[in-house]
Formats: sequence, C-alpha cells, structure tokens
Amino acid sequence: MKIPEITIQNTFKMPTLGIGTWEMGGRQSADTSEDEKFIKAIRFALENGIRHIDTAENYANGHTEEVVGNAIKGFEREKLLITSKVSEENLGYKNLLRSAENSLKRLQTDYLDLYLLHHPNPDVPLSETMKAINELIEKRLIRNFGLSNFPVNLVAEVMQLTNSPIITNQLEYNLFTRNNGRITEDVESTIIPFCHENNISITAWRPVLKGEKNALQQPAILEIAEKHRATPMQIALAWLLNKPLMLAIPKMTSEKHILENIAAATIQLSEEEMQVLDKLSV
Ligand SMILES: NC(=O)c1ccc[n+]([C@@H]2O[C@H](COP(=O)([O-])OP(=O)(O)OC[C@H]3O[C@@H](n4cnc5c(N)ncnc54)[C@H](OP(=O)(O)O)[C@@H]3O)[C@@H](O)[C@H]2O)c1
Repeated sequence: MKIPEITIQNTFKMPTLGIGTWEMGGRQSADTSEDEKFIKAIRFALENGIRHIDTAENYANGHTEEVVGNAIKGFEREKLLITSKVSEENLGYKNLLRSAENSLKRLQTDYLDLYLLHHPNPDVPLSETMKAINELIEKRLIRNFGLSNFPVNLVAEVMQLTNSPIITNQLEYNLFTRNNGRITEDVESTIIPFCHENNISITAWRPVLKGEKNALQQPAILEIAEKHRATPMQIALAWLLNKPLMLAIPKMTSEKHILENIAAATIQLSEEEMQVLDKLSV
C-alpha cells in the first residue's frame, strides 16, 4: 500500500508513516537475544510499503542502529529514508562529527536522510553544534537535519544559525498527550503552531500510546472506529496523520500492528470527526 507523502520546506518528501526502533535490540545497553525478530519486523515493514526508519545513536548504546543496518541489506538505499539522532552529550563540534561517522558505520550506509539533535544541551553553544551540522550537510553525509524535543526558544535560535531548513521537530504527541509530555510541555498549544508557521514538520513520537488500548475505549472513539471499520488505535494514529505537516513513527514489531498502521495511514477522517477527537483530552 502506498503511504501518503508530504513535501517539507519545499525540498524534502517524507511518507507520513515510518517505523520507530526504540527497544529493538535493547534499551540503555545492547541485548542481541531478539535481533532476528526485529530484523524480520523491519524487513516486513519495508516489504509492505514503509520507507522511513527512525533510530538513534543511544538506542541500545548503538546496537539498534546495527539492527537497522542488518535489516536494510538488499533494499535499494535510495528508496529508504533513514533518520538517526545525535545524543545531547555529543553536541560539541568534534563529538558530533564522530557520532555521525559512527552512526553511518553501524547503519552500514554512506549517508543519513535526516539527522536530528536528540535533546537540547544547555552546556553546549548551539553555534558549535550547527557548525558541525552545516559541515555534514556540505559533505552530503547527512542530507537534511532536524530537532527533537526542542522548545520554541531553541528552535528559533537554531533558525538563526542554519542556512539549511529545519525539516522536523520530533515531539511526544498523541491523542492523549497534547501539552503534557515527559520532556516538552505545551506541544499542541505552542510548539506545534510555531513550527508550522516556519514550515517545520512535527514527527510524533509515542504516536500509538505505547500500545495502551484502555484509554481508547471511549464511545466517541469507538463510534468513529466502527464507521471506518478500524480499530480504536488505528483511529488514534489516523487522527495524527490527518493533521498538516505531521509524521508519525510507531514502533511496531508484530506483523498485525505493521499492517494495521499502514492501513491507518490512508484513513480519511472528516472535519467533524477530527473536531470530536481534537476535543477529547483538552
Ligand atoms: N525523540 C525522542 O525523544 C523519542 C522518544 C521516544 C521514542 N521515539 C521514537 O518514536 C518511536 C515510537 O515511540 P514508542 O516506541 O515509545 O511508542 P509507540 O510507538 O507509541 O508504541 C509502541 C508500542 O505500541 C505497540 N503498537 C504498535 N502499533 C500498534 C497498533 N496498531 N495497535 C496496538 N498496539 C500497537 C507496539 O507493539 P509491537 O512492537 O508488539 O508491535 C509497541 O509495544 C520509538 O520507537 C522511537 O523511534 C523518540
């Protein structure tokens, strides 16, 4: 199934749905015991139309990138979109260049489509970070860059320091986490409007509520789900993907979830349905 695409900053085309990889291959440290399962899941997603994979250098202390590197073997690189993230402790000039090099090695690829600053670090001047990012873009080692968990004032600061457009700000955002995220606050009321005014897309992390289905058992959601012959979780995901300049990267390893999420990417919700869902948790 063809996943809808959006063009961001007039330059970069992204499918609205990608696959997240947090906890594939460990959490803070590597756990190789289920690598085959994760490789198979990522390959199944790619075979069924997913092209965007989201990962980070700190997932399983680098091992998740290795899992992704093994999973993408044999797929045409130019058709894939790979996002990785540099950790806040590596935002200094030299560390950032080394982090990018190491991510490329672990992913067994020559370039990243998108490279994100995973979290802000108040101890490192953003001018230093952006010097390294600009250099990586010039060398074509990264094709685009973006942010993650950045509040408005820091997005604005980065805008002053870069000639390349900021493609995305990755934020915790889902049907029931609007302004009360674990890392960023006021996402829906403040950060998203500011990013959108500047054509910066939002990538919603934790888009399917970590698989927590109970909160979705509400009459309003069940009614919309029934109308679209969809599960409540598909409606929660469709609510995100029907919004402008919005990408989502659910982590999904079960084939059932992968197929359900791909199907959800083409669910068209009416304006009225969007309004009902918009009002749910505010
Ligand atoms: N930038 C950041 O700071 C940050 C922070 C956290 C996460 N992220 C990124 O965002 C991605 C997604 O966030 P997340 O992994 O925390 O949470 P999530 O994607 O909301 O939840 C993943 C869980 O939901 C289940 N699931 C997936 N699709 C489902 C469906 N259709 N119905 C029911 N359950 C479903 C998965 O099960 P199965 O695996 O069994 O299929 C998994 O247990 C991460 O993997 C990571 O790439 C970024």
